[in-house]
Amino acid sequence: MTAANTATPAAGTQQPGAIKPRRMSFDMSRLRTKYFFRDNPILSTLMYALSASFPDGERFFIDTVRHYQKDIDDPVLQAQIRGFIGQEAHHSRIHEDFNAQAASLGMAMEKIQRRFKRRIGTARRNLDPGRQLAITAALEHITATLAQWTLENPEAGVGGENHSPLREMLVWHAMEEIEHKAVAFDVYRATVNREKQRIVVAKIIFRTFWVQMAIAQVMLLWHDRKIPSLRHIREAWTFMWGEGGFRRWSAPEFRRYLEPGFHPNDIDQRHLIEQWRESYPEVAALQVA
Ligand SMILES: [Fe+2]
Ligand SMILES: [Fe+2]
Repeated sequence: MTAANTATPAAGTQQPGAIKPRRMSFDMSRLRTKYFFRDNPILSTLMYALSASFPDGERFFIDTVRHYQKDIDDPVLQAQIRGFIGQEAHHSRIHEDFNAQAASLGMAMEKIQRRFKRRIGTARRNLDPGRQLAITAALEHITATLAQWTLENPEAGVGGENHSPLREMLVWHAMEEIEHKAVAFDVYRATVNREKQRIVVAKIIFRTFWVQMAIAQVMLLWHDRKIPSLRHIREAWTFMWGEGGFRRWSAPEFRRYLEPGFHPNDIDQRHLIEQWRESYPEVAALQVA
């Protein structure tokens, strides 16, 4: 089977590029403050919840793509799949390190990781490989969208202060998410290629994603016996829903994926990959290979 989608994209769209995993060295032991993100428990637990979802989530992404790898004839897409697997495997390991450090600070990371693991296990057991790959493609759109916001809004300080290990890790992770954002989608198109199914699955994923994060946040706060103050709630609300806020900006970007004929490279995010070394030299300096 050939990847039909690797045909020349329309002018002005992002071209598919080489995907190269970068090995990084982060010192997670530098994370010593539990509520590291603006001293705000709502914002900090959002980061913990996202991070807890990654190790098993990214293993799921790899497996769903790998299932169809043998059906791909296009050597360019084959090379991209290898790059994608290398990047996601590394992300998964680094997030495990971060999650272990968060657990050592007293956060109930294992508890919420077990919950994510159970949900992923249910999807693996009950859904056919095509639907599983559609889930991966939809979640990859979420990660690329959130990655764009993170990289374009450095003043928001996602992940904590400058030189916070989570911030460093998220910058690198965000850039690589943008780099490989179309791989699962391209594999889906080249193999399963059910446009209606892609959109229906994405609708479900987009509706449940933030709910799942919120449940994990409540579990973390409950376990820590931490009640957010009015200031925390107001600040988190502005971060999410204020002008240009994290969720306010990303909601229409999520919806673009639901248009028939959409392709991730219709959104040109190349500048974020090309400029990441200049924009974040302190993170680029942590690359070891
Ligand atoms: Fe990743
Ligand atoms: Fe990814």
